[in-house]
Amino acid sequence: MRRFIVIGHRASTTPDFPLDDLAGGAGRMDLLLTAANAALLVSHDLRRDSDATLVLLGPPDPPRAVRLDGARLQSLSPDLRTNAGLLRKALAHGGRVERETSPGAFASRRGIVDVLEGIREPLIHLREDGNDIREVEIPREVAFILSDSIELTGEEEAVVARRRKAVCSVGPVSVHTSDAIAIVHNEMDRRHPA
Ligand SMILES: C[S@@+](CC[C@H](N)C(=O)[O-])C[C@H]1O[C@@H](n2cnc3c(N)ncnc32)[C@H](O)[C@@H]1O
Repeated sequence: MRRFIVIGHRASTTPDFPLDDLAGGAGRMDLLLTAANAALLVSHDLRRDSDATLVLLGPPDPPRAVRLDGARLQSLSPDLRTNAGLLRKALAHGGRVERETSPGAFASRRGIVDVLEGIREPLIHLREDGNDIREVEIPREVAFILSDSIELTGEEEAVVARRRKAVCSVGPVSVHTSDAIAIVHNEMDRRHPA
C-alpha cells in the first residue's frame, strides 16, 4: 500500500461547505481534492494500491479524517466538485470510529496523532528542505505525509518527527501538494513496478 496523508489546516469540517467556493469558503478544499486525485487517479483507472487520507482541521468541528481507498473506490472523478460530494457525505459522520460513508470513502473524527497511530508503514515526511528522495531507499509499502499551503505548526511537526523515518524533498522547487504526490508516484513506479 502506498499511502498519502495530506493535512488541510483550513479545510472545512461541516458537510455544508460550499461546493461553489472550494478554494475560499471551503478552506482550500480544492487543494485537498486535487491532492486526492493525484494520489489515486491514473489514465483511465484508479491506483488500486494507493490511498489518500485527508486530515481536515478547519472550522467548525475539527478534526476530521477522510480516507479514500483506491482498492474500494468505485470511481473518482477528475472533476473536483463531484468528489467534494463524497467529502460532504463523509463529514456527516462525526464518530471516532471509521465508517465507510460511500464505497471506498471512510470518515472518522481523527486528527494527525490518531491518523499516524493507525498506520503501520514507515512514514516519509515530504518537505522542501528534506533529503533528495532519489538518494533515499523507500520500500514498496510506505506512507507519505504532506501539508497544504500552510506549513505544519511546531506541535504538528513534533508529532510527525516522532513517527517519521525520513524527511525527503522531491526537488529544488516548492511545488503544489498534488505535484509533489505526482512526482513521488513517478519515483515509486520506477523503483517498484507493479
Ligand atoms: C505548496 S507546498 C507548501 C507551501 C510552501 N512551503 C510555501 O511557502 O507556501 C505544499 C506541500 O507540498 C509538499 N512539497 C512541496 N514542494 C516540495 C518539495 N520540493 N519537496 C517535498 N515536498 C514538497 C510539502 O509537503 C509542502 O508542505
